[in-house]
Amino acid sequence: MAMTAQLKLDDKEYSLPVIVGTEGEKALDTRKLRADTGYIAYDQGYGNTGSCESAITYLDGENGILRHRGYPIEQLAQHSNFVETAYLVIYGELPTVEQRKVFSGRLRQHAAIEPQMQAIFQGYPKDAPPMAMLSSIVASLAAHYPQLATNDFEKDLANFDLAAAMAISKIRTIGAMLYRYQNGLPYVPPKDIPFCDNLLHMMFSELYQDYVVAPEVTRALNTLLLLHADHEQNCSTSTVRMVGSSAANLFTSLSAGICALSGPLHGGANTAVMHMLQSIHDEHDDGTRFIAAAKSGSKSSRLMGFGHAVYKNFDPRAKIIGQACDDVLTKLGINDPLLAIAKNLEQAALKDDYFLSRKLYPNVDFYSGIIMRALGIPVNMFTIIFAIGRAPGWIANWREVAANPKGRIYRPRQVYAGPVKRDYRPIAQRG
Ligand code: ACO
Repeated sequence: MAMTAQLKLDDKEYSLPVIVGTEGEKALDTRKLRADTGYIAYDQGYGNTGSCESAITYLDGENGILRHRGYPIEQLAQHSNFVETAYLVIYGELPTVEQRKVFSGRLRQHAAIEPQMQAIFQGYPKDAPPMAMLSSIVASLAAHYPQLATNDFEKDLANFDLAAAMAISKIRTIGAMLYRYQNGLPYVPPKDIPFCDNLLHMMFSELYQDYVVAPEVTRALNTLLLLHADHEQNCSTSTVRMVGSSAANLFTSLSAGICALSGPLHGGANTAVMHMLQSIHDEHDDGTRFIAAAKSGSKSSRLMGFGHAVYKNFDPRAKIIGQACDDVLTKLGINDPLLAIAKNLEQAALKDDYFLSRKLYPNVDFYSGIIMRALGIPVNMFTIIFAIGRAPGWIANWREVAANPKGRIYRPRQVYAGPVKRDYRPIAQRG
C-alpha cells in the first residue's frame, strides 16, 4: 500500500502522499497542499525541497556518497574518463565501443568555432570576466544554430545528440579561446585528438608548434573534469532545469547555468580558494587570521573551499581530488608552497570546534585550484574549467526536463512580506 503522511491543520486532517526513491529517499508530496489547505510549503533556498524526480545522480550528503547512474564516483574516477562519464551521465549507461566511437566522433567533429562566432570575442574588453564572456557566447550558439535551438521540446529533442555533443565540445573550445583572447594570443584551432589533450592544445600550443602534453597532465585534467560532471540539484543545475522548464532550448539553458555557476559561493569558490591561499602565502601567515575571520559568521570572510550545502560529513570528490593533487605535483616534480598551506589550513580547521560542530569539511574546490595551477591554468580560468566539466550534468538535466511528458514550468511560490495594500499618491503629495 502507498505510504501517506498525516497533516493536521486547524483541526482538519489531510493525507500527503509519500514518494520513495530507488535508494529509499522519502519525500512528502506537497503538490496539492495549497489547493487542499490554502497553505504552501515554505523552504527558503529550497534546501529541503525535492524539485523533481531524477535518475541521473544519487547524492547522500550525510554519508558522503555520490553516484552517477548508480556508479560510485570513486570507481568512475579510477577507471573511467571525462568523455565516457559524460556519456554515462547524459544517456544513462556506459557506452559500448560503437556508442563511444560515435560520441567521441561528434565531439571531435564539432570542436571548432566558426569565423562568425570567433568575431564575437572582439566585442569584449580583453580583461572582461571570463564567465560573463562564456555565458553570453554559449547563449549565442542558439543564434548560430537556430535549427538545434527551436524552443520546441519535440524538435529540440530530435536534434539532441548533435546539440549535446556540440555544447560539450564548443564550451571547451570557447573556454580555450577566452584564454587566448585575454592573453592577446591568436586562436589555435582544435585537432583530431582526445578531449582533454585538445583543450590543453588549444590553450597552450603556439600556432605552428604543438604543446606536448604530459600523460600525467591529461590524466589530472580528466579526473578534474570527471569529478565535476554532475552534482544533483545544485544552484546551476537547478537553474538549467528552471530555464529549460519554460521550453527554452539547450544552449540558452546552459548559458543560464553558467551564470549561476559564476558566483563565488558556487563555481567561483575555486578561484576564491586560490586568492585566499595566495594571501596567506604573501602575508607569511599560517592561516590563523583566515580561520579567525571565518569564525566571525560573516559571509564575506568564510573559509573558502570549506563547507557544503549537502555534504555534512565529507565531500567524496574532495578525497579523490586531494589525492590527485598530490599525485600530479609529485609526477611533475612541482613543489607548490600553496599546497603545504592548504594542508596546514585543512588540519587546523579540522581540529577547530567551530568547523567541527558545523560539519564544515573541505569541498571539491579546496584542492582543485592547486591542480589547475600545476597544469598552468591561470586562476581566472578556474571557473571556466568547472563549467566545461559540469556541461554533461546540465545537459542531462535539461534533457530530463524536456523529455518529461508530465513536466510543468518551474514556478515556486513565496510568502509575501512587503507592505499591505495602500493607495497611490501623486508625487506632489509625497513628503
Ligand atoms: N567558513 C566559515 N563558516 C562557514 C562556512 C565557511 N566556509 N560555511 C558555512 N559556515 C557557517 C555558517 O556561517 C553557518 O554558521 P552559523 O550556524 O553560526 O550561522 C553554518 O556554518 C552553516 O552554514 P550554512 O550557511 O547553513 O551553509 P550552507 O549549506 O548554506 O552553505 C556553502 C554552503 C555556501 C557551500 C558554504 O559552506 C560556503 O559559503 N562555503 C564557502 C564557499 C565554498 O567553498 N563554496 C563551494 C561549494 S562546493 C561547490 O559549489 C562546487
